Amino acid sequence: MRIPFIGGNWKMNLSLNEAVEFVEEIKDKLPVASEVETAIAASPLFLESMIKHNAESPLKITAENCFYKNSGAYTGEVSPLALSEMGVGYVIVGHSERRRYFNETNDIINKKVHAVLNNRMIPIICCDETMGRVDNGDHFSWVVSQVTAAVQGVSEEDAAKIIIAYEPSWAIGTGHSASTAEAEEGCYLIRQTLADIYSDEVADQIRVLYGGSVTEKNIKSLMKENDIDGVLAGKASLSASEFVKLANFK
Ligand code: G3H
Repeated sequence: MRIPFIGGNWKMNLSLNEAVEFVEEIKDKLPVASEVETAIAASPLFLESMIKHNAESPLKITAENCFYKNSGAYTGEVSPLALSEMGVGYVIVGHSERRRYFNETNDIINKKVHAVLNNRMIPIICCDETMGRVDNGDHFSWVVSQVTAAVQGVSEEDAAKIIIAYEPSWAIGTGHSASTAEAEEGCYLIRQTLADIYSDEVADQIRVLYGGSVTEKNIKSLMKENDIDGVLAGKASLSASEFVKLANFK
């Protein structure tokens, strides 16, 4: 039985004050974590304040990224150890914007997955796919290769805890979500890939999310699908009232 996971990814948006106000505003409006888990990923500059204002709220304060080493001469990078010490529980790894604008490769993403797990946090691993690949017909093998590379060397025990998000680039920030069937097809493919790598039993425990123009209008139908265990919303998560609606999709 997989607990639904409703995540928001603010990207490089909102101010520190807005971030704190958001957390305060939604704290009494979220479902209990045993029914629906909720998370917001924000700038590392906001996380400490958000955590302070999030006491007794089920919301999981999440990082959008981190480096794969805990310390060292890596100017400007964010230490996974520091995030863990701060009380962060989840870290997004390998978002398509990181892959595209910051040249993150499958190898880097795999190192980050290990760094997050080694610091007792949970990685939310994003897999993308472009319309060009759909046209070429190799979009499915692209998704399989990203999943396979991301979890390389991850034990079965750790694998059961991870979260994977299927986020086709053509649906991100465009207002054109994948159809429910397309989203289910991508999430099913990810689960089958995990079953091939591990086992059906492990794959059945891993939560697979869909991300790309999720709104209060399409969440209900997405969440009815067998292999879609939750969503990772960008734009819709910037408004407290919209995020609350997503969280209470049931
Ligand atoms: O991580 C979230 C995704 O990039 C989706 O963003 O909901 O604005 O399309 P979006």
